[in-house]
Amino acid sequence: MSAQQAAPLIRTSGLTRIYRMGDMEVAALQGVSLDVAAGEFVAVMGSSGSGKSTLMAILGGLDRPTAGTYELDGADVAGLSRDALARLRNAKIGFVFQSFNLLARTTALENVELPLMYARGVSGSERRKRARESLERVGLASREGHRPNQLSGGQQQRVAIARALVNRPSLVLADEPTGNLDSRVTAEIMALFQELNDAGITIVFVTHEPDVAQYAKRKVVMRDGRIVTDEPVRDRTVATAVASAVVSAVASAVVSASAPGADAAGVAP
Ligand SMILES: Nc1ncnc2c1ncn2[C@@H]1O[C@H](COP(=O)(O)OP(=O)(O)OP(=O)(O)O)[C@@H](O)[C@H]1O
Ligand SMILES: [Mg+2]
Repeated sequence: MSAQQAAPLIRTSGLTRIYRMGDMEVAALQGVSLDVAAGEFVAVMGSSGSGKSTLMAILGGLDRPTAGTYELDGADVAGLSRDALARLRNAKIGFVFQSFNLLARTTALENVELPLMYARGVSGSERRKRARESLERVGLASREGHRPNQLSGGQQQRVAIARALVNRPSLVLADEPTGNLDSRVTAEIMALFQELNDAGITIVFVTHEPDVAQYAKRKVVMRDGRIVTDEPVRDRTVATAVASAVVSAVASAVVSASAPGADAAGVAP
């Protein structure tokens, strides 16, 4: 341990969040202490109502804890004014939602440009250029003029990820990003997250699916507003391998269909 050792990107201590509804109190978080170092890839799991979304909203600066502390990149988030919090969020965090949250009557390119509207000193042409780069990064350069209803679910989520990336955040938070997607598209989106993580972006995401958590490097499980297990992912799934397995399965199905007698591996007798 040296004095210069970098603080973790995320450090929370004793995070509590109590929702008050009339006379009722719901303790959604009951003391969550979590450190996430830069470069980590964390899956958050736990049953419905265990506090996952509440935690993500606080980590994303969208909500404030009732008690406890949160430091992002060494800065005390709880002590920030509303404006300072918005600036920090805009500069450092990209957020991805289960329901994509794209503007309906707006093209993919304009959706991705949106966070840059709030960034100071970014010209219109620079905005466009960065939005295009971001769409390219998620493999959607050819769809920039499409509106959300002209895109598949997986493509809409890619646009949402491009929007989350446009400010070049160090942290991407995603609350059930594959919750509305089928298993093939889920594998594609997880491949993209792995690629972003390989490029150095820290990722924390929520999932209900054990298979999807296997794409992460670390798995945190919550119950009743607390973390109950926190462990490295063993036998991690590498998404590009899944994607190419799908491609080769399709390829061999095509071969078997077109060459009677060929076996499943596509080798002619
Ligand atoms: N705005 C709110 N007002 C009052 N109670 C809330 C509010 N948001 C969440 N809760 C309560 O806090 C608890 C945690 O909710 P949270 O949304 O964090 O769960 P979750 O783990 O994300 O669940 P899911 O898997 O269903 O998305 C739940 O008991 C919920 O009813
Ligand atoms: Mg939730």
